[in-house]
Amino acid sequence: MATVQLTPKDFSDLLEFSKSLAKSAGEVIRSGSKAILQDGAVDEKKNSVDLVTEWDVKVENLVKGEISKTYPDFKFIGEESYSSGDRPTLSDDPTFCVDPIDGTTNFVHGFPFACISIGFIYKRQPTIGVIYNPFLDQLYYALKGHGAFLEVPGYSNPLRLPISKARPLESLSQALLGVEWGSDRRASVIQKKANSFVRLAGDSKEVLGGKMVHSLRSMGSAALNYSTVAQGGLDSYWEIGCWPWDVCAGIVIALEAGCYVTGSKQYFLAHRDEEPLDLVDWDELLWGRKYIVIRAIADTATEKGRDTQRRLVEDFYNTVEEWDAE
Ligand code: IPD
Repeated sequence: MATVQLTPKDFSDLLEFSKSLAKSAGEVIRSGSKAILQDGAVDEKKNSVDLVTEWDVKVENLVKGEISKTYPDFKFIGEESYSSGDRPTLSDDPTFCVDPIDGTTNFVHGFPFACISIGFIYKRQPTIGVIYNPFLDQLYYALKGHGAFLEVPGYSNPLRLPISKARPLESLSQALLGVEWGSDRRASVIQKKANSFVRLAGDSKEVLGGKMVHSLRSMGSAALNYSTVAQGGLDSYWEIGCWPWDVCAGIVIALEAGCYVTGSKQYFLAHRDEEPLDLVDWDELLWGRKYIVIRAIADTATEKGRDTQRRLVEDFYNTVEEWDAE
């Protein structure tokens, strides 16, 4: 297929299409939630905490079907259609990258933080991100170069992200951080996660290397973690083990909100000074399985916000342990 050339009008149509698709999918997610809390069936994918429901599959089929009607030539990467082993490499072709229900564990338990995450990749770059939490009716969206927004009940106009102007953040000790237990519970891995959480939360007087951050939060959805960092409600979010469909939309929203987005420690050290982020090797970053994002930080008299973001990511990586995702 010759590379499709998209115009600015195509992008705004794609954004509107994705927003409306996210809302329709959200209705299905909401009815699925009611049904599943009554008598729904849950399958365990890799182990008893890696869950999938008939609703993940239903929502993905709905989204895939609508995309193929409107954009029959575009590619599709989706959580439920991906069979491990065949890792699609990013090409120049327009590609949707979708997680039908991100936060399946929350969905199964009725914890109201689950969403649909629709990312769109153009010329190998995540370009559109739409994330919709149907339980709170919160719609986050961004188109590369046009800012990131949140539509939320009670406000007649979309709110630009971050919601309040970027604040300073001097050190990790003042931060509220998003971390996740994830579904990889191998003994060696769970120990490293726990060690990392202890060092982040612990008081350095008693915990070697302790940062004593304000607190740690686990939202249970990578996409909502990115959106909340973009919004300014979390200072940073770190996770090992996610997939491109968990993070693609969130990355666009975060970048458009002035966040700094990167991958593993090794990836960060190799690419830390690259600007603009358009130079990023997106294939490596999206499939890298290790992700960190830090919110927009205000410049101070002595340090540019971008430098603070990098300094804090480095400090973070010197505090936590890493492991290879399964
Ligand atoms: C999961 C969620 C969870 C994260 C896992 C993801 P899923 O996605 O984002 O927060 O810890 O790594 O796989 O399975 O609910 O779509």
